[in-house]
Amino acid sequence: MKLIQDFCDADIWPDELPPSRQAILAHIGGMDGLLCLLTDQIDGGIMDAAGPELKVISSFSVGIDNVDVAAASARGIPVGNTPGVLTDATADMAFALLLAAGRRIVEGAQGVRMGRWKTWGPAFMLGADLAGATLGIVGFGRIGRAVARRAGGFGMRIIFSDPSQVIPEPGVNATQVDLDTLLREADFISLHTPLTDETRGLINADTLGRMKPTAVLVNTSRGPVVDQQALYEALFSKRIFAAALDVTVPEPLPVDHPLLTLENCLIVPHIASASWRTRERMSLMAAENLIAGLKGERLPNCVNPEVYKK
Ligand code: GLV
Repeated sequence: MKLIQDFCDADIWPDELPPSRQAILAHIGGMDGLLCLLTDQIDGGIMDAAGPELKVISSFSVGIDNVDVAAASARGIPVGNTPGVLTDATADMAFALLLAAGRRIVEGAQGVRMGRWKTWGPAFMLGADLAGATLGIVGFGRIGRAVARRAGGFGMRIIFSDPSQVIPEPGVNATQVDLDTLLREADFISLHTPLTDETRGLINADTLGRMKPTAVLVNTSRGPVVDQQALYEALFSKRIFAAALDVTVPEPLPVDHPLLTLENCLIVPHIASASWRTRERMSLMAAENLIAGLKGERLPNCVNPEVYKK
């Protein structure tokens, strides 16, 4: 905020809750730059309402499915994001969720508070072993690879699927397989794809039906990658063992949502990158992208560099 306010006149949305589309439209006219959060949907209509002065859109996020990047490119507007700095924090959260769901940590902790801890029992609250288990990573980009590094330390066998041919870095023992093999062989499945037309609904009744009955599904990518109705049915019927989600549809998930009635479904409020150092770095990157764009310089992190070729 300080960097931005020292550089330009900033119209800052004051509320904790995001502005409605109407509110964005009411404020955007004549702006030179826009810094948005992943909770703001920025489409061509908003870009047009800003007018021809709009020189940059900087999203305070690595995922940019909230911005219509094609519409920005068509208007020659560079779009910035914050890659890299949240890789470890997000991989940590994926791993925390994987452990928590596999070993029923939240369910157990809630049981303690509710007086359900009667005794130690040989078959009480059993969960999944990590050592020797197979981890399937869907999407082997920066975050998927960081999850693989962690999994190696837990003695897991690692397989991954990715639309491109990826060679794992030295020291990471991971094998690329097709999605069908991953679904069939993985004991734990962690999603690390961007949200695109190809990945929307990737986890559905069909793909859930191909997983092991003991499978644990972790989603720290984007909510729409998972068909939540199908997930509810798979968890309710014990078709798979458990799921842990950092992202949902919608966000926030209403408290009366059926998924929240299931003990084998753990949901946290989109906090994978929410660590002090990570958010500080993301905020600096978002400000630097914005300021570079306002100056007419190339954004340090631009998702549509084709705008510079025109
Ligand atoms: C968080 O979900 C991000 O995309 O930065």
